Amino acid sequence: MTLSSKRILLIIGGGIAAYKTLDLIRRLRERGAAVRCVMTTAAQEFITPLSVGALSADHVFTNLFERQDEQDVGHIRLARECDLIVVAPATADLMAKLANGHANDLASTVLLATNRPVLFAPAMNPKMWAHPATRRNRKALEQDGMHFVGPARGEMAESGESGEGRMSEPLEIVAAIEALLAPKAGPLTGRRIIVTSGPTHEPIDPVRYIANRSSGKQGHALAGALARLGADVHLVSGPVTIPDPQGVKTLHVETAREMQAAVESLLPADAAIFVAAVADWRTESEAGQKIKKIAGEGPPALQMVENPDILAGVGHHKKRPYLVVGFAAETREVEQNATFKLKKKGADFIVANDVSHEGGVMGGDRNRVAIVSKDGIDRWPDLTKEETAERLANLIAERLRTVTV
Ligand SMILES: Cc1cc2nc3c(=O)[nH]c(=O)nc-3n(C[C@H](O)[C@H](O)[C@H](O)COP(=O)(O)O)c2cc1C
Repeated sequence: MTLSSKRILLIIGGGIAAYKTLDLIRRLRERGAAVRCVMTTAAQEFITPLSVGALSADHVFTNLFERQDEQDVGHIRLARECDLIVVAPATADLMAKLANGHANDLASTVLLATNRPVLFAPAMNPKMWAHPATRRNRKALEQDGMHFVGPARGEMAESGESGEGRMSEPLEIVAAIEALLAPKAGPLTGRRIIVTSGPTHEPIDPVRYIANRSSGKQGHALAGALARLGADVHLVSGPVTIPDPQGVKTLHVETAREMQAAVESLLPADAAIFVAAVADWRTESEAGQKIKKIAGEGPPALQMVENPDILAGVGHHKKRPYLVVGFAAETREVEQNATFKLKKKGADFIVANDVSHEGGVMGGDRNRVAIVSKDGIDRWPDLTKEETAERLANLIAERLRTVTV
């Protein structure tokens, strides 16, 4: 399953070769990829959304102004919630549109709005491919960082013409996708790392829950940074509104107990990094029905119990990872509390951060942390959460460097 857990957005353009994308979808799914499709209006003249939807087992997106699609997913999410966009067949028209920044339909808008790698598999008549305008567009797209597979030389489907312009075969396109998505070897290649992120939600009744302000930004950024160093990252995420990081296997949970079970199921691992803001308490039992407000009776007394301490559990686990790292979100005596936590929880180091209201760390984009370990306290400057993640990932790689896999 070379593409296991990869999400491919396939944009199908209006060319004869569109029929080959039906096979491409099958080949990608056989390899474990989830395939979501966008079809241009012209593409629907060649193959139907019905076949594409049946093979991809997902909704097919065809219209920028479809209200339901826009509410459910929206063109920006379509553009970002994938690991790679493939345009096949890439028509002369689609290449021209992106080369010139047009966004007048769903396909071109998604292509302009994405921050993911894009692979073009052009298919067109040899005269169209050789035209100076198409050549200019290809050059511009390459300069903009787009990737290309093909076209090949050979017989055209129509009119008995031959030359350069045939779309690459589905398996060649699959190979190009695999090459683009192959994990880059890095200092953490071969390392399995668990990261937790986000808040937990502890239900009170079917409509109410106890939560906290964690956004998941720091944990998700760290998971992505570790993956970029080559690690096999398993992210256990509480309820957040940010997308899953690229190149990471993400498990979604709600409560502290679900998070604990997910983490346990992922052991053994080389390292476990606990960034999530796990609720310390939950109500003793979840009310089966919505608790009613009854005039004159006052608020209900909620009986609270402690949640499991996931970090301490793993820090003292028989399958303890070589490296266990906790985060300490404190509003006062940040470093003293982190030092205390280090000993109590069996962690190798604690990343202490001040989450008092004034700092805007919870939900914000910046962080100022201190690394508390038995060797002392290393205070880092104010950084973006991405920068903090990069530095932490390098520190983790450094700590794991001497451990044999
Ligand atoms: C029978 C037929 C075959 C076509 N094949 C191609 C093709 O292989 N490549 C191409 O770039 N355009 C081809 N076209 C022209 C495109 O369908 C046309 O440029 C269309 O506007 C492309 O729309 P799209 O880029 O939004 O999919 C073909 C048109 C017809 C009628």
